[in-house]
Amino acid sequence: MKLDFTNRRVVVTGAAQGIGRAIVQSFAAEGAQVWALDLDAEGLRVAAETGANATRVLDLSDRSAVTDAMSEMAQTLGGIDILVNCAGGVRGQVAKPIEDVSEKDWLVLFEANVHGAFWCSQSVAPHMKRAGFGRIINISSGAGLRPSLTGIQGYTAAKHALVGLTKQLSFELGPFGITVNSVAPGFVLSNPATQRQWESYGPEGQARLVESIHTQRLGRPKDIADTVMFLASDVAEWVSGQIISVDGGRS
Ligand SMILES: NC(=O)c1ccc[n+]([C@@H]2O[C@H](COP(=O)([O-])OP(=O)(O)OC[C@H]3O[C@@H](n4cnc5c(N)ncnc54)[C@H](O)[C@@H]3O)[C@@H](O)[C@H]2O)c1
Repeated sequence: MKLDFTNRRVVVTGAAQGIGRAIVQSFAAEGAQVWALDLDAEGLRVAAETGANATRVLDLSDRSAVTDAMSEMAQTLGGIDILVNCAGGVRGQVAKPIEDVSEKDWLVLFEANVHGAFWCSQSVAPHMKRAGFGRIINISSGAGLRPSLTGIQGYTAAKHALVGLTKQLSFELGPFGITVNSVAPGFVLSNPATQRQWESYGPEGQARLVESIHTQRLGRPKDIADTVMFLASDVAEWVSGQIISVDGGRS
């Protein structure tokens, strides 16, 4: 099956590194016009070299900045067909007892993993409705379905919220030809934070983790990007409201 994205207009958030960057590369390789958004200017520079047609440095928790960026893109390209909400992660945090979690620790995780996805979806929905076509794909996590390996309360709660948002938006936007799905990655060595997490397990913990994965290997950013491509394609027209675990069979 050949998935064709020629002339499709795609926005990818969290595009500066790891999984988001792999998603940008995959769409660009199949002929899409890709806009890459992130907080990280240097990472976006690399994303531009490896496929993004345009980049925007912005904080996705800033609703008006998101609205402006989306309307600029829609005007420039004549619409937006596909939105991949990939921004998120643990924002440099590590597990701590609940008593030690500050308000800022908690909020920053919701801003990164949920608020941005909501503002972006809200901005693209009118364009997709007018076109009678749209694909929204939220990158959640195994932490959106069960307790997280990271042990970070706010991360697990935010990813569960993103799973709920996926289901509700599928219900609301399905009648307009817009599908909304989520990919829930397992452990992917995608950036310095996941590398540190992996190293913290030590040789025995690492062996236990790999043994718990049916395919006996960790995930790669491209594993996640490939599933996103399927969900974004025309052939996935009747797949909506789903949370697809891409984790080598661990869950
Ligand atoms: N790597 C894994 O093992 C794994 C597993 C499950 C889920 N995920 C999810 O996959 C996605 C990508 O993960 P990753 O490991 O490639 O990178 P990551 O989690 O480190 O970062 C994602 C990107 O989001 C950006 N970002 C965060 N907050 C932002 C904000 N407010 N505004 C704009 N950009 C913001 C960051 O700058 C970063 O480039 C994340 O949502 C993450 O939670 C990753």
